[in-house]
Amino acid sequence: MAEQTTARVLVASNRGPVTFRLAADGTLTAHRGGGGLVSGLSAIDDPHAVWVCAALGEADRAAARQAPRGRLDLAGFDVGRQAVRMLDIDPVVFDQAYNGVANSTLWFLHHQLYNTPTAPVFDQTAAEQWTGFRAYNEAFAAALAAEAAPGAAVLVQDYHLTLVPALLRERRPDLRIGYFLHTPWASPDYFRLLPDESAVAVLTGVLGADRAGFHTRRWAEAFADCCERVLGAAVDRAALAVTFQGRTTRLGVHALGADGEFLRDRAHRADVDDRLAALRAAVGHDGPDPRRTIVRVDRTELSKNIVRGLQAYRHLLRTRPEWHGRVVHIAFAYPSRQDLAEYRDYTATVRRVSDEINAEFGTAAWQPLVLQVEDDFARSLAAYRLADVALVNPIRDGMNLVAKEVPVVSEEGCALVLSREAGAWAELAEDALGINPYDVVGTADALHRALVMPAAERTERTKRLAAAATALPPQQWFLDQLADLTAA
Ligand code: G6P
Repeated sequence: MAEQTTARVLVASNRGPVTFRLAADGTLTAHRGGGGLVSGLSAIDDPHAVWVCAALGEADRAAARQAPRGRLDLAGFDVGRQAVRMLDIDPVVFDQAYNGVANSTLWFLHHQLYNTPTAPVFDQTAAEQWTGFRAYNEAFAAALAAEAAPGAAVLVQDYHLTLVPALLRERRPDLRIGYFLHTPWASPDYFRLLPDESAVAVLTGVLGADRAGFHTRRWAEAFADCCERVLGAAVDRAALAVTFQGRTTRLGVHALGADGEFLRDRAHRADVDDRLAALRAAVGHDGPDPRRTIVRVDRTELSKNIVRGLQAYRHLLRTRPEWHGRVVHIAFAYPSRQDLAEYRDYTATVRRVSDEINAEFGTAAWQPLVLQVEDDFARSLAAYRLADVALVNPIRDGMNLVAKEVPVVSEEGCALVLSREAGAWAELAEDALGINPYDVVGTADALHRALVMPAAERTERTKRLAAAATALPPQQWFLDQLADLTAA
C-alpha cells in the first residue's frame, strides 16, 4: 500500500463510523453507527482528515479489502468529510485485543467489575492476549504514522488504543498526539490488579500523548493517582499535569454532552410517533388516569447494573402496593458483546428477573414490566418522550449519555434517578435524585420519590437538566480538544 502522509487531522478508534453487513447475495451494505464520536466528527470539514478504525467482523474485512488504498467511500453517510481507513487486523489478534484485553480486562478494571476471589487470573492465555493487544495497537500506530502529514494532530480514542500514543510518538515525534478515554479510570488499588508490566505499559502508553482527556475531573485525577503510585511520576494536581521521564502530559476534562438539536428533531419523526403510540397502548397510558412510566435504555452491559435496577423495581412493588396497576417499567436492554460468556449470562439473568417480576405482580389488566431486547433507536426515543421517571443506575460509567438524552426529549418532564458513580453525576447532581447503585432498597425509595415528585418541580428540574446536558454538544466537544491540542 502506498504511504499517504497527507492527513492533517486524524482520529483513531476501535469502532468506526460505519459497520458493514453482508447480504445473502454477497453485496455489502454500510450502516452508520450512533454515538457521540460520530456526531462529533461530523464537525471536521477537512477532506484531508482521516479516521482510522478496525474491521469488526467479516463484512467489514471484505469492505476494507475492496477499498482503494484502504480508504472506504462513505459519500452520503453524514459522517463528516474525512476519509475512513478500516484496518483488516488478523482475526485472532483482533479477538485477543478486543475480547481478551480491551473488554475482558481493561473494561473490567476501569468499571470495577471483577469478582476478585476468582478473577482476574493472569495466566499464559492472558499473556498471549496481551501480545495480541500490543500487535493490534501497533497496527494502529503504524497506520497513523503512515497517514499523518508533518506536525498533524492525532486524536486517539479509548481504552482499546491505550498503547497507541507512546507507540506513535516513537515513530513520529513531530505529531501532536491527544488521547481521550470514554470510560472511568480505575483507582490505584484496583488498577494494581494488572500485572506490573502491563500496568506500566498502559500508563506510559497514555503518557505518550501531549494531552489526555477524560469526561470528568474524577477520572482525570484517578489517572494521575495511578501515574504517581505506579510510575512515581510527578503530578501537578492544580494544573492537572503529569511529568514522567522529562515529558509532561496535560490532562483535560471534556464532558461530552447530548446533541440537543439532533435529538429534538429526530425524536419527532414519523417512525418515533408510531412507536410512541404503540408504547402508550402497551403501557395503558391513555385515559383520565394514565399509568406512570419508569424508563431505562441501555446496552446489556455489566456496568449498567440492569439487574439491581429490576430488583429495585421489584422492591418498590413489594413494599408499596399503592403502585400496583399504576406504574409500568419500560426496560430496553440491547445486546452487547455477546462473544463474552459473562455478557450472555448477564443477558439471561435480565430476562429471568424480568419474567419473575411479571409473574409475581402481573394481572390480566396490567403488565408491570415491558422488556425489549432488540435494538431500535426510534423506539428508545419514543420511550424517552413518554418517560415520567428515568432510571440510570450504573455501577460506574465514564459519562452515560442516556442520563443526558432523556431530559432533552421527555415531553412532560421526567425525574432522573441517577447513580452517583456515573460521570454525568458531576453535571446533573443538583437536579437528579442520587443513588448508590449497589443499594437496591435506596434505589426503590428514590424511584418512589421520583414518581410522586410534583409536576411543577419535575418540569423545572427537567429544564435545568436539559440545559446542563447539552452544554457541550459533540461537535464542540471534539473541536475544543482539537484546539487545545494544536494550541502553541
Ligand atoms: C463504550 C466504549 C466505546 C464503545 C462502546 C460500545 O461506550 O467507551 O468505545 O464503542 O462502549 O462497545 P462495543 O464493544 O460494542 O464497541
